[in-house]
Amino acid sequence: MLTLSGVGKRYPTGDRALTDIELTLPKGQVMALIGPSGAGKSTLIRCVNRLVEPTQGSIRLEDTELTTLSGHKLRHARRSMGMIFQEYALVDRLTVMENVLSGQLGYVGFWRSFLRRYPQEAVVEAFRLLERVGLTHAIDKRADALSGGQRQRVGIARALLQSPKLLLVDEPTASLDPKTSRQIMRLIRELCAERELAAIINIHDVALAQQFADRIVGLRAGEIVFDGLPSELDSEMLTTIYGEEEWDTTPEPIDDEAANEEPVSPPYARVMSAIEAGAAR
Ligand SMILES: Nc1ncnc2c1ncn2[C@@H]1O[C@H](COP(=O)(O)OP(=O)(O)OP(=O)(O)O)[C@@H](O)[C@H]1O
Ligand SMILES: [Mg+2]
Repeated sequence: MLTLSGVGKRYPTGDRALTDIELTLPKGQVMALIGPSGAGKSTLIRCVNRLVEPTQGSIRLEDTELTTLSGHKLRHARRSMGMIFQEYALVDRLTVMENVLSGQLGYVGFWRSFLRRYPQEAVVEAFRLLERVGLTHAIDKRADALSGGQRQRVGIARALLQSPKLLLVDEPTASLDPKTSRQIMRLIRELCAERELAAIINIHDVALAQQFADRIVGLRAGEIVFDGLPSELDSEMLTTIYGEEEWDTTPEPIDDEAANEEPVSPPYARVMSAIEAGAAR
């Protein structure tokens, strides 16, 4: 349903952010896009909704070639893509309900939206979505009175109000605590399953990606270096994507023998392994 072929992006500054990206996303698939900072994750997502203009290649959403659209056709295509950002991008002085309804902007037009006159069906649907994301109690709260997790739920409800075919999600959990992060990822996953939505989720937390995505794509310096199942992503592959690092993050079980040994503080161990890795190069 979404196909990228030969997609490249070179920014006017000369930065080559993406090279020859080939990717096909079927309906209902949740894909996590991982990779180090600057790998091109946000650029890839933004090329799809044309917040960034790709400099090469083709991007098709079902039968529509997205890279050549402009004006009202582009606006129409964007309605079928729900965006969820890290910074939540809510309007602080508006209520939760108003923020969700602003997802209708593409449909009701700027002035109606500015005057906050929304069609009855939109209000009913917004209410239903707020119920689904667990926010009925906060409908009249101002957005600036919400926690990070609640703000992200509003962002999700808003993205879904336009009934998209595809969700583009950029670091949905970057400013959330571990438990809230899991709840948000689980919610996105469930909603994709319920609505047969495909999703591209940029995420730094590899464990979360493995737990909640159907597929993982690893980017490194603008190129796809891994495309597979979460279970296929081993520490060797992580090294290919991110470079040298100690990937075994599972805490060692404490047994009596180990307890008798000289304690090594984790930061010290990390510094030592970094030095050793450097020396081995
Ligand atoms: N507007 C821009 N102008 C010029 N170069 C840019 C622009 N946006 C991004 N880049 C460059 O493109 C490359 C990819 O950036 P991008 O933001 O897509 O990475 P990312 O994988 O999302 O990183 P992060 O994990 O830090 O968000 C980087 O080298 C970056 O410096
Ligand atoms: Mg980014």
